[in-house]
Amino acid sequence: MPKNITNQIDKNNIPQHVAIILDGNGRWAKEKGLERIYGHQAGTEAVRRALTAAAKMGISYLTLYTFSTENWNRPQQEVNALMSLLVSSLRNELDNLMEKRVRLNIIGNIADLPDDCQKGLQEAIQATAANTGITLTLAISYSGRWEIVQAAKQLVRQIQSKQISEQEINEETFMKALNTFPIPDPDILIRTGGEYRISNFLLWQMAYTEMFFLPIMWPEFDGQHLHEIICQFQARERRFGKTSEQVQPC
Ligand code: IPE
Ligand code: IPE
Ligand code: MG
Repeated sequence: MPKNITNQIDKNNIPQHVAIILDGNGRWAKEKGLERIYGHQAGTEAVRRALTAAAKMGISYLTLYTFSTENWNRPQQEVNALMSLLVSSLRNELDNLMEKRVRLNIIGNIADLPDDCQKGLQEAIQATAANTGITLTLAISYSGRWEIVQAAKQLVRQIQSKQISEQEINEETFMKALNTFPIPDPDILIRTGGEYRISNFLLWQMAYTEMFFLPIMWPEFDGQHLHEIICQFQARERRFGKTSEQVQPC
């Protein structure tokens, strides 16, 4: 990777929102002859590196796919270990989040989580609520289809209670019923781990997201990878359905 990549970034064109599917923890550990949980532990260090780099670059929103609805189907021992890791990471990282002025946010079905996880998350969210730096959103017990169904149910309730009429349902009102509101759609999706799929992440929000798939495992991710992706993002032309001529500055 080029060394002076930071210098190539256009500071006036920093993406607002970067979303990451942090995949490959288990394989990273297995390659080293370790239990999968060591990969998850190493993954928390990569989270810290990604957050530091994103905050430094002036990215406003970083959203991390931390645990999917489907991940509940993993062996109970791994699920328990992941939940314990979540609680201990929140405790260990709180000072770091405060120092970096990070605002913590959660999307997903939090009611599914064990009580100590819910408590740890609520405490960290409250403690960081007044911070004005980057918003770190953790998607936990999250799936895009679940979120869309939740939004549909919410709108049905609003119609039944006559808060809104059926005619008022459109893309904007639907978007407002999603967990991610009022965060803008991701400009960039990064997936580590070598797979080319989105595994039920932010299905509605990624309609026009630029995607980057990396062969490296998540514990290997560092700030330099993020810099390289931002450079590549800035070289892409986002047309949103228009022609190239229409979107180019005169
Ligand atoms: C991503 O790493 C973390 C979670 C899904 C919780 P994996 O645990 O999926 O690692 P691999 O893909 O099996 O290597
Ligand atoms: C996606 O990774 C979910 C998270 C990173 C939390 P998975 O490892 O669960 O995805 P699949 O099963 O390979 O699609
Ligand atoms: Mg995986």
